[in-house]
Amino acid sequence: MNEQYISIRHLSKRFDKDFVLKDVNAALNKGEILGFLGPSGAGKTTTIKILTGQLLPTSGDAQVLGIACDKIDERIYEQIGIVTDVSGVYERMSVYDNLKYFARLLNVPLSEINPLLKRIGLYEHRKKPAGKLSKGQTQRLILARAILHKPKILFLDEPTSGLDPSTALEVHRMLLELKNEGMSIFLTTHNMEEATKLCDHVALLNEGVIVEYGAPEDICLKYNKVKKYKVQLTDGTKHFLKHSPEASEQIALWLREDRVETIHSCEPTLETVFLEVTGRELQ
Ligand SMILES: Nc1ncnc2c1ncn2[C@@H]1O[C@H](COP(=O)(O)OP(=O)(O)O)[C@@H](O)[C@H]1O
Ligand SMILES: [Mg+2]
Repeated sequence: MNEQYISIRHLSKRFDKDFVLKDVNAALNKGEILGFLGPSGAGKTTTIKILTGQLLPTSGDAQVLGIACDKIDERIYEQIGIVTDVSGVYERMSVYDNLKYFARLLNVPLSEINPLLKRIGLYEHRKKPAGKLSKGQTQRLILARAILHKPKILFLDEPTSGLDPSTALEVHRMLLELKNEGMSIFLTTHNMEEATKLCDHVALLNEGVIVEYGAPEDICLKYNKVKKYKVQLTDGTKHFLKHSPEASEQIALWLREDRVETIHSCEPTLETVFLEVTGRELQ
C-alpha cells in the first residue's frame, strides 16, 4: 500500500452563506505529485489553506502527515514547505541572506545554502539584493526557500502563473527533480498542460466537488469515446478520421499502398475533458 501523506475526506468550507468546497475527496501518496485543478475561484487556495493550518474546514476531515487539519499548528512547518502567490522575499536583503534567515529559523546548517544556490542557478547572484532579481529568479529563490529544510510535502499554489514559458519550464524541471528525490508535491494550477506533464494524479475541482480524479492519461482515455486518427499522406494531404469500419478500411488501404507519412491517434486533453465535464472554460 502506498503511504498517504495527505488524505482529504468529505471536506467542505463555507464563507458566509456560500459553500466554496462542498464535498472534496483526494489523496497525496508519498513521492507523488498531486495536481488540484480548477478555474479561478474554484477553491484551490482555500484547500491549501486548510491543509496548512491557515483555515479551518466547515466539515469533513483532512489529514496531513497523520495530523488532523484542525490540529495543525506551526510545528508542521518543519515538515512542509509552502509557495503561494503572497510568498515574498526580503527585497533589501541579499539572495544569500534571504536563505540564511530561513536556514536559522528552520535549523538548517548554513553550509547547505551555497549548494542550493548553485542548484537553482542563483549562486552568481548571491550577493545581489533580492529585490533586483528578475521574476523567474525571484520565483526560484522562493522555491529554494521552501525546500531548504527538505520538507516531506511541498505545497505550491499556482507556481508558474505569470511566468514566461521558459521560466515555467525551468520550474517544471526543478519540480520533477524534487519528485525524483522523493519529495511529495501538492500543486494547484489552472494550466492543464502543466498538470498533464507533472502530475501522477489530478483532481478536477468544479463548483465545490471533485468531478474527476485519477492519472491524467487515464482520465483522458476515459473520455476517448470516439477515437479519432490524424493521417498525413506522402502527397502532403492531411486527413482526420473518426473510428469506423470505413475509416479502418481506408487507413489499411493507405498503409498497404505505402502512402502514410505519419499517423496519430487523437486522445482528448485534460482541457477538453474539463470542458466536457463542466461546460466551463478554464481561465
Ligand atoms: N476569507 C474569505 N472570505 C470570504 N470568501 C472567501 C475567502 N477566501 C476565499 N473566498 C472565496 O472563495 C472562493 C474560492 O477562492 P479561492 O480558494 O481563492 O479560489 P482559487 O484559488 O481556486 O482561485 C472565491 O469565491 C473567493 O472569493
Ligand atoms: Mg488561488
